[in-house]
Amino acid sequence: MSHANREPVKFAYWVPNVSGGLVISNIEQRTSWSIDYNRKLAQIAEENGFEYALSQIRFTAGYGAEFQHESVSFSHALLEATKTLKVIAAILPGPWNPALAAKQIATINHLTNGRVAVNVVSGWFRGEFAAIGEHWLDHDERYRRSEEFIRALRGIWTEDNFTFRGDFYRFNNYSLKPKPIDPQPEIFQGGSSRAARDMAARVSDWYFTNGNTPDQIAKQVSDIRQKAKESDHSVRVGVNAFAIVRETEEEAKAILAEIVEKANPEAVNAFGHEVKNAGKASPEGEGNWAKSSFEDLVQYNDGFRSNLIGTPRQVAERILDLKRAGADLILLGFLHFQEEVEYFGKHVIPLVRELEAAEALQPVAAE
Ligand SMILES: Cc1cc2nc3c(=O)[nH]c(=O)nc-3n(C[C@H](O)[C@H](O)[C@H](O)COP(=O)(O)O)c2cc1C
Repeated sequence: MSHANREPVKFAYWVPNVSGGLVISNIEQRTSWSIDYNRKLAQIAEENGFEYALSQIRFTAGYGAEFQHESVSFSHALLEATKTLKVIAAILPGPWNPALAAKQIATINHLTNGRVAVNVVSGWFRGEFAAIGEHWLDHDERYRRSEEFIRALRGIWTEDNFTFRGDFYRFNNYSLKPKPIDPQPEIFQGGSSRAARDMAARVSDWYFTNGNTPDQIAKQVSDIRQKAKESDHSVRVGVNAFAIVRETEEEAKAILAEIVEKANPEAVNAFGHEVKNAGKASPEGEGNWAKSSFEDLVQYNDGFRSNLIGTPRQVAERILDLKRAGADLILLGFLHFQEEVEYFGKHVIPLVRELEAAEALQPVAAE
């Protein structure tokens, strides 16, 4: 069965607002977490076919990422430096409460002509929670809190006299002024466990999942669309990938081999232990990283599994496969961000658009 959307697939890149890039490896990475590098990167991205940028929230180091800029303020700076790019600010319930987040994002929405979005993340890093004195909730409890958080955000943004009685949050006749201008900020979420999918099917606009094969993505999409239908909700899907696009397949594969060869095994294993442990209370074992191998874990979100590693044509064809599996957006990480975002925009995205145009001429297959 094809889940393909007829709209052009969208592209996003991970904002490198934490140090060390997107792979846990000592390979050379010509990427910087500085604001100057990131402003220029955002401009390159919007000029080269990228619609979104996703910033990250981290409070402490762990397995790399020694330095971290805060996501909402950093996202605002990138929005100020660009004209059309939408920037997704990551928000972690716990450190943020929905009253503050709703107010902060509503203001940025006004300042940037509605270009800010949020990614509500539920957390995986217990040591980080301990370091900042936050309670560590069990896996499914974290999602129950995130769902209330999202319901509260939407309520505050759209209703006057908002009243909410949750287990985690309470609001009494609260009227936010001014409310965001349209378009309303889009709400993304990270996570792909049962609890994460159920939350997406009920309340999120977008579901972000770790890298995976088209078959595995298609299974997740079927499941989530079915559940969303039951809740009379619709949710779009973003898939993570670490792209290595070079003129020849050999070159691209050699870079992957070098990334893995130069990985720091202790850090990768410690990261693997942490993320698998974070998902333990997710009883079905389907969460992000449940099946990740050592090689997969060298990239924080299983980005090698999506296999966007090869020539521009190979990569464009594989993006079409992910789209047929139901991906509405591809979220990309790179080794050398500025150079590779530009290369991807100039050499891969036009091929994707050609393939999409050719496919649009085909009759729609009966499902
Ligand atoms: C695309 C994406 C972006 C994420 N960004 C962050 C982040 O910035 N900070 C963070 O602490 N967790 C982040 N996460 C982690 C998720 O919030 C969640 O804790 C994790 O995916 C585990 O989910 P699961 O066990 O429910 O599948 C991200 C996850 C994904 C897929």
